[in-house]
Amino acid sequence: MTETADHPDAYPPSAEFAAAANVDAGIYERAAQDREAFWAEQADCLHWHERWNQVLDWTDAPVAKWFVGGRLNVAYNCVDRHVLEGRGDKVALHWEGEPGDSRTITYSDLLAEVSRAANYLTELGLTAGDRVAIYMPMIPETIVAMLACARLGLPHSLVFAGFSPTALRQRIDDAEARLVITVDGQWRRGTPAPLKEAVDEALLAKGDVPSSVEHVLVVRRVGTEVEWTEGRDLWWHETVAQADPVHEAQAFDAEHPLFILYTSGTTGKPKGILHTSGGYLTQTSYTHRVVFDHKPETDVYWCTADVGWVTGHSYIVYGPLANGATQVLYEGTPNFPDEHRHWQTIEKYGVTIYYTAPTLVRTFMKWGRQIPDAHDLSSIRVLGSVGEPINPEAWRWYRDVIGSGTAPIVDTWWQTETGAIMISPLPGITATKPGAAMTPVPGVSAAVVDEEGKTVRRGETEANGYLVLDQPWPSMLRGIWGDMERYRATYWDRFADQGWYFAGDGAKLDVNGDLWVLGRVDDVMNVSGHRISTAEVESALVGHSGVAEAAVVGASDETTGQGIVAFVILTAEATDTGATMVDELKAEVAREISPIARPREIHVVPELPKTRSGKIMRRLLRDVAEGRELGDTSTLVDPQVFESIRAGRTD
Ligand code: WT7
Repeated sequence: MTETADHPDAYPPSAEFAAAANVDAGIYERAAQDREAFWAEQADCLHWHERWNQVLDWTDAPVAKWFVGGRLNVAYNCVDRHVLEGRGDKVALHWEGEPGDSRTITYSDLLAEVSRAANYLTELGLTAGDRVAIYMPMIPETIVAMLACARLGLPHSLVFAGFSPTALRQRIDDAEARLVITVDGQWRRGTPAPLKEAVDEALLAKGDVPSSVEHVLVVRRVGTEVEWTEGRDLWWHETVAQADPVHEAQAFDAEHPLFILYTSGTTGKPKGILHTSGGYLTQTSYTHRVVFDHKPETDVYWCTADVGWVTGHSYIVYGPLANGATQVLYEGTPNFPDEHRHWQTIEKYGVTIYYTAPTLVRTFMKWGRQIPDAHDLSSIRVLGSVGEPINPEAWRWYRDVIGSGTAPIVDTWWQTETGAIMISPLPGITATKPGAAMTPVPGVSAAVVDEEGKTVRRGETEANGYLVLDQPWPSMLRGIWGDMERYRATYWDRFADQGWYFAGDGAKLDVNGDLWVLGRVDDVMNVSGHRISTAEVESALVGHSGVAEAAVVGASDETTGQGIVAFVILTAEATDTGATMVDELKAEVAREISPIARPREIHVVPELPKTRSGKIMRRLLRDVAEGRELGDTSTLVDPQVFESIRAGRTD
């Protein structure tokens, strides 16, 4: 820790780390001088079947084209290239199964598997542009499936394996997927949980309308019995595993769609965020290289995210594999069979770069430092954080206990929409501050502005502003699948005059001009780093016959960042009005959306606070949920409503 006049609590890298780092401070200036030349240089780290002739075409803003005219194959870049350059024996994945089984997969192995899958998907009649839904846990076949899709130009849509059949069906329908790839079941704390069954349920005809899915390809993971629909269902081991392990990758346009990933917005319907190929791969691989100071020859990298979220896409699959990384992939929960699992895994493989979420750091803190202290974690040299603001206390604990008091922490701000890291320290350059994401990475431009779009002045603590991105970036989303109007309205209308992307986050600049992300300013909650909209949970609640009206807010939570708190008005039909009803409603939300969305508290209330125009005053409900004095209630129709809400609280 260094005491500087500017900031009493900044942590510069050691001289030794700085000297060996992949980049030096000059990178910021070089990028600022000529952004497009800078990005071209990063794109040149990839293999292009045909080089582009224009770095950026922004004439159709807000839909960017990057590396115009360029052609590449994303899977070739992530796999073939390393084998062709003589690194076929290098380990790509140290896979650690939850029950204790493990597999080592080299780049040559990965090439054979991906080629087999590509040959079989072709045999199934899938052609470039067709969509494939992938509903799978953290096993190597999930990555193989993603790369096979990328290889064939089939945009994939990963659906997190914790999501419900309803959520899966909604995503399948929206993307009109022709194929679903799944498993018989997944390991969850020592028990096999069915997953194929959820697919069967999701694919049931709705009235006369069958789903768009023609085939379900099933990997056997847990070995339990599954129902089988002849003609539709196919075992991976009888098909893909038997296919030819040689496949020649074709090049696709730089703007060919790579994947769709659904995320929560402010309405009940999830948005299918669309990412394309060349710019996405350029920025994910560049950021993985500079933000984690990744050195392919010596590092063992571990990102603990699930592959079903964007962090898994960008920092387990595409970024690290494009960089020829050796990484750990772990199937299960951090406390199976006990709370030592992560630290044992770090010791076992000699993990050097560890990237996780603040909620998990806080969970580790709760379990106690004696657990990591029982292990040799000295291999760790860089720590990463993502998903929500990291509180300074957790930050310091992370550095001291997991990083031996020396490992730099990169607090990386980005979104499903941005595709790759946007704001983060660089570990060999930045004097980091606990809780601050610091500055945009070289090549990226961001600003903190007020309501009118005027730049917020440094150190103005009163005036927290909005985080905007004022220049296009290579891995930016190219739209919302099937709804370009919503794309414009959601991200580009707020600061339309300036042509800026509005991230939905609040932020402030400190006296040094360093950026602190403060969290969402819209009706999106962040629970353990997962995005859930209030509207989504409200719609699941009112879907229950006992609920007339519902209002949902995110209230701060010590471990999960935010917890979901719901206020419901029951219908006349609701026979039970007490604890059983509350439990049933919690279960209903978990079933409809996912266990992640299960409300922490549900309060049955006689009324909800509304403005004269009928809008629910969430700000006031948040005050109630967090036990604060009420803010301004003067715009309420009936200020008395809070007396009854407070009286109705059952906790
Ligand atoms: C939202 C995006 C980025 C991959 C995982 C989440 C919050 C993310 C940080 C950070 C403060 C952060 C923001 C953002 N967020 N990283 N380092 N500091 N907040 O992706 O589900 O698209 O959520 O997560 O609120 O808007 P996502």
